[in-house]
Amino acid sequence: MDKQDIILSRNLGQDIENTIMGQPHDRIFVLTDTTTLRLCWPLVNSLHCFDRAQMITIGETDENKTLDSLAYVWTALQQGGATRHSLMLNLGGGMVTDLGGFAASTFKRGLAYINVPTTLLSQVDASVGGKTGINFGGLKNEIGVFNCAKAVLLSSEFLRSLDSHNILSGYAEMLKHGLISNVENWAELLRFDLSSIDYERLGSLVSKSVTIKEHIVEEDPTEKGLRKALNLGHTAGHALESLAMEEERTVLHGYAVAWGLICELYLSTLKCGFPKDKFRQTVQFIHDNYGDFPIDCKQYEKLYAFMTHDKKNEGNSINFTLLGDIGDIRINQQATKEEIFDMLDFLREG
Ligand code: GLY
Repeated sequence: MDKQDIILSRNLGQDIENTIMGQPHDRIFVLTDTTTLRLCWPLVNSLHCFDRAQMITIGETDENKTLDSLAYVWTALQQGGATRHSLMLNLGGGMVTDLGGFAASTFKRGLAYINVPTTLLSQVDASVGGKTGINFGGLKNEIGVFNCAKAVLLSSEFLRSLDSHNILSGYAEMLKHGLISNVENWAELLRFDLSSIDYERLGSLVSKSVTIKEHIVEEDPTEKGLRKALNLGHTAGHALESLAMEEERTVLHGYAVAWGLICELYLSTLKCGFPKDKFRQTVQFIHDNYGDFPIDCKQYEKLYAFMTHDKKNEGNSINFTLLGDIGDIRINQQATKEEIFDMLDFLREG
């Protein structure tokens, strides 16, 4: 997989012009969803590089990350005369960058694309690292390819319009990056005041967070080993997210990851000797900022079943990424059903 350019933008317009000029193309297509068309596109639509841009807009939210939306984008590319020398710019959150990346990677066997992620979650996670795809057959990200964007442009201008829930959702992935990297980064993240955001400082934390992910992806682009570190908090987190979805409780991805981090750090203390003081500080931070996810014991079997169906598993066992300490990553860890139920007791009791 080619290395992607990650641009920390200080001047959104100028940086987009330069990035697009750096990618020779015959036609340019801009993919947005209905929300980013309304809120984000006006910030850049007067740039000369977009004079002849063809717009493609799909519905917002993950429900639209479907084969139908993908076919709609392919059709728009075909009718707009896209060739292998065309360029696609994905302006939106993870749904737009994942689906747009996949559409670009597969149309005429692939045209170049640039991601301009507009949510914190997509800036620190989805848009970096070349995972593209759509949901299929009731499963998230079931169909897709690894193929990096030529460039990812990160601007804190978009973050200012996000509500606090969406900031917190992205911040959980940053906390995960802190836990798998080093104590300084982790401590800086715990010190950051999420109730009164300093966007300059947030931008600098985003940049550190993305660098951590970038290094991991460079070492292991297709998740054979080290990239599994990025799954910390996600085995339990995805189960909580699936339970919430089934019960029609609205839970943003990053909130489920934050509660998943509580679960998996609990297992880390139990099985890998993760230090109790760092465990307590992290759990406190998550409780203070994300609140609790109420569950009762009757839901344990269902959560356990969700974990057994996780696509990260190999063979019959549930696969966790755990930590021996901050930055001491232990991939491919297993836990017994009893240990998993103890972990859920800890989450429930707080
Ligand atoms: N979201 C985890 C990864 O990119 O591998």
